[in-house]
Amino acid sequence: MYTFEIIVGTTLGSAEYVADHLVEKLVEQGFKTNIHLDPKLTDLPINKNNPWIICTATHGAGDFPENILPFTQQLEQNSPDLSNVKYSVIALGSKSYDQFCNAGHMIDRQLAKLKAEKVAITLEICTLETPIPEDMIDIWYPEWSQNWL
Ligand SMILES: Cc1cc2nc3c(=O)[nH]c(=O)nc-3n(C[C@H](O)[C@H](O)[C@H](O)COP(=O)(O)O)c2cc1C
Repeated sequence: MYTFEIIVGTTLGSAEYVADHLVEKLVEQGFKTNIHLDPKLTDLPINKNNPWIICTATHGAGDFPENILPFTQQLEQNSPDLSNVKYSVIALGSKSYDQFCNAGHMIDRQLAKLKAEKVAITLEICTLETPIPEDMIDIWYPEWSQNWL
């Protein structure tokens, strides 16, 4: 049985609401979860039983939120072998910005480079189109969970 490591990148709180809603769904299905609001590479298990879900907004001009930036730097500096890690990305952003959901796409590329195994295409949530972004989880979760769990 998996324990999901949910790594949140947020400035204004929406990505945290999305992560909390996802936790409810996973717990309903009997999974354990750990939410990382101040993610550190040393706190994250690297093995097959702990898939990582990155749930991150984009801020600045296509940048990472400050709370997740150090984690991405730790990935860059330590280059861990993540071939035993399965992952998914949930990217929040707004289509009113040029670099839509760029933070989610940047960490996706980083994890892929470190040989982590992506189990689903990135869920992009535009907060202009979906003012209550956690509603997208209700739509996305059934297919996501059925496809690989
Ligand atoms: C100052 C600022 C800069 C932003 N820059 C981007 C951006 O470059 N690309 C993007 O897709 N969304 C951008 N956004 C939209 C946020 O990613 C979106 O509102 C998201 O839902 C915020 O999530 P949070 O509440 O978890 O921080 C920006 C929002 C703000 C306030």
